Amino acid sequence: MSTVLSVSGSPSATSRTARLLRHLDDRLVAQGHEVIPLDVRTLPAEALLGADFRHPAIVEATALFERADGLVIGTPVYKAAYSGLLKSLLDLLPQYALVGKTVLPLATGGTTAHVLAIDYALRPVLSSMGAAHIVPGWFTLDKDIAVGDDGTLTVAPGSAEALAQVTDQFSAALGGRTTLLAATG
Ligand SMILES: Cc1cc2nc3c(=O)[nH]c(=O)nc-3n(C[C@H](O)[C@H](O)[C@H](O)COP(=O)(O)O)c2cc1C
Repeated sequence: MSTVLSVSGSPSATSRTARLLRHLDDRLVAQGHEVIPLDVRTLPAEALLGADFRHPAIVEATALFERADGLVIGTPVYKAAYSGLLKSLLDLLPQYALVGKTVLPLATGGTTAHVLAIDYALRPVLSSMGAAHIVPGWFTLDKDIAVGDDGTLTVAPGSAEALAQVTDQFSAALGGRTTLLAATG
């Protein structure tokens, strides 16, 4: 079993990105992983904006990154890149906080003009932090994510299949890493 930290970088209280991640968390749990959800918006703004590395909430979040074997990093596309909220947390982590981690990058956005934001904006940041293996990610259009009155999440068929596929690839990559670590002691 691997431990996955599932990080939503949306500042929105009704975030589609966060809902999508929590939906995928269930799939990862069903595959035997321990999943820890983290919504960056719940961390104290003064610590994030004031670069307060020693704030207990930031220390705790940093420890969650350390503990995780795998990370799901989800962000809304803002101004053709990832959210500033996500960056505010990444900036407080150690430079090589992602060394040895397997990472699944996900984005939601309003236009396919920015479908490559994961690759040209987010992936280089994750790579610079030492991520061992950044598996293929997926960009989901916001209009393809619907939340029913009862809170049920529905994703348009094409995106739902692609999300399931990248999640399963991430899960398999984590399994491989766990096996490798066990084999090499
Ligand atoms: C301030 C702001 C900037 C945005 N910029 C973009 C953008 O550049 N490209 C894009 O595709 N969508 C953009 N969007 C749309 C969001 O990425 C999209 O609605 C996303 O699904 C919102 O996710 P959330 O509900 O998790 O916050 C922007 C939305 C906001 C509020």
